[in-house]
Amino acid sequence: MAEVIIVKSQDEAGALVGASIADLIAANPRAVLGLATGSTPIVVYNHLASQVKERNIDVSQVQGFALDEYAGLPVEHPESYRSVITRTVVEPVGLTPDLVHVPNGDLSTIATAGRDYDAAIAAAGGVDVQILGIGTDGHIGFNEPGSSLASGTRIKTLTEQTRLDNARFFNSLDEVPTHCITQGIGTILKARHLVLLAFGENKADAVAQSIEGPVSAMCPASAMQLHPHATFVIDEAAASKL
Ligand code: GLP
Repeated sequence: MAEVIIVKSQDEAGALVGASIADLIAANPRAVLGLATGSTPIVVYNHLASQVKERNIDVSQVQGFALDEYAGLPVEHPESYRSVITRTVVEPVGLTPDLVHVPNGDLSTIATAGRDYDAAIAAAGGVDVQILGIGTDGHIGFNEPGSSLASGTRIKTLTEQTRLDNARFFNSLDEVPTHCITQGIGTILKARHLVLLAFGENKADAVAQSIEGPVSAMCPASAMQLHPHATFVIDEAAASKL
């Protein structure tokens, strides 16, 4: 049974999760963070950045592993997940850029990049806390419905729904990549603590399916029910169908 925390506001969620990550780093300066993109976790990163400054926490040895990256999008593109992670986490929190890893979406090496990424996570000692958002279809990372619950990091095709959801970050739908490289559900489940955040009514169905539905590849986030330490931090709108 996952732990479910219903908050009054996104800011409350950010403060709660940001402070707990700050505590983790204060206790273990070599903590390994699992980082997510999307608009949802931004409040967490902002609160973490304030905590780090206020409490003067040393983050120079913290390692980070992002969940996913678009395939074939140059890393310099402002919407590459490398760029997004740099802008929203690495710079505000003051992490050491070389210690923050993002899957390599370069098409020339993508066939082996997934295996290499999982090996790098294992070599770092595994992820201490994995931050997650959720897609409207229940995806975590870019594990779309139908993804194997045991999957490792690999190339995936993006669904039309996800491309439509993410088109807001690009000039047109045509510019949204069709493929990605994402940590698998099996990779994500190896993290020692999973924290999924969801805000807004448009996430309510996915949240209800994840927490109360059957464990099914058709709702990838439902795999969190298999994890011994999974926390959902959601607002009232996202909780409205529980
Ligand atoms: C993308 C990311 C996911 C993220 C999802 C939701 O698909 N790959 O990791 O959870 O977007 O994004 P948002 O938080 O902006 O709703």
